[in-house]
Amino acid sequence: MDNLVGLSSSLLYKPPMCTTVIHAKILHTSLACIVTLPMAPSSCFVALFTLSCTLLLLMGCSDAQLSPDFYSKSCPDVFTGVKSQVESAVSKEPGMGASLLRLFFHDCFVNGCDGSVLLDDTPTFTGEKNAAPNRNSARGFEVIDDVKSAVEKECPGVVSCADLLAITARDSVVLLGGPSWNVKLGRRDARTASQAAANSSLPSPTSNLTDLISSFENAGLSTTDLVALSGSHSIGQANCANFRARIYNETDLDRSFGEIRRKNCPSSAGPGDNNLAPLDLHSPVAFDNTYYTNLLQFKGLLHSDQQLFSGGSTDSLVRTYASSPSTFSSDFAAAMIKMGDILPLTGSDGEVRKNCRKIN
Ligand code: HEM
Repeated sequence: MDNLVGLSSSLLYKPPMCTTVIHAKILHTSLACIVTLPMAPSSCFVALFTLSCTLLLLMGCSDAQLSPDFYSKSCPDVFTGVKSQVESAVSKEPGMGASLLRLFFHDCFVNGCDGSVLLDDTPTFTGEKNAAPNRNSARGFEVIDDVKSAVEKECPGVVSCADLLAITARDSVVLLGGPSWNVKLGRRDARTASQAAANSSLPSPTSNLTDLISSFENAGLSTTDLVALSGSHSIGQANCANFRARIYNETDLDRSFGEIRRKNCPSSAGPGDNNLAPLDLHSPVAFDNTYYTNLLQFKGLLHSDQQLFSGGSTDSLVRTYASSPSTFSSDFAAAMIKMGDILPLTGSDGEVRKNCRKIN
């Protein structure tokens, strides 16, 4: 039975960028039947049958078998268990909410949302924690350990680490005042990780708008998703090394903002590299839309942030989110659900790790 589930999931699953062209062709043929282009009835039947199958496949296209009630029988209290751990971590240190949200992004963008970011390096295994975007930067792993232990106590071996990252990210956003959404569940954990993929798939703070758009496109996400998800930089902090070039060399930078940031970020590489500054100068522990109003004033901290408002195709959406918190909230929530759909392992693929740091 397990095998059957695995087989059907691998047949059904298509990455987010599904086979649009093939579907367009089938649709065209089927329409031809209906609109009476001369066609043999048997070809019509085949085309219409294929269209119905394709539509069924498409319905499962973007999200495989993920569903918010995946654990409703096997671990009914999973949401309560996770929430109390996240609440305790964020009340001890509000900045932890940002770190937990980022972990989910760094998981999903590297070969899908499969918990691979959580695997520790060992003498015989190289994980993603020491990839450039994560080293001395990604954090919150101890909180995920606590979340996992709490959930394991209630439902041993049931809930994947990949799903815990998804719930934890949502709870963090909500605790810091942001929107909520129904987290889809049913992901399984990878038995591998890729440092090379972590280095190449995560967008860089030095990226220009074209690079950012294509990095999100590669993950099956749209330019709207890019702009909406970047609103995550309404919370959390960045290391001086990641914004030094911007505050010393760039001209699309508010003058007084630049002065403030230069005070704690020396111009040359060295001991100040890890000095931190808030990504949103106004409200670094409140999840709100001030990230976008900052961009309108050229107070984006990262080069990549300011690229979203730099005379290009995303300017108008930045203006929209700056003036409409509710549009931002709903686009953000929708984009988080989409990001959570990236290449999940389902069925009998992968495993449910007992300890998020190592494969079983
Ligand atoms: C658009 C491309 C993106 C780039 C280039 C980017 C880059 C960065 C960089 C360089 C930092 C600072 C890391 C450090 O210095 O330690 C950061 C922090 C952060 N990023 Fe992004 N990011 C992007 C998109 C996202 C997305 C999509 C999310 C979430 C869905 C996200 C969530 C965060 C959060 C919450 C922080 C603060 C982390 C903390 O305080 O621990 N970022 N990002």
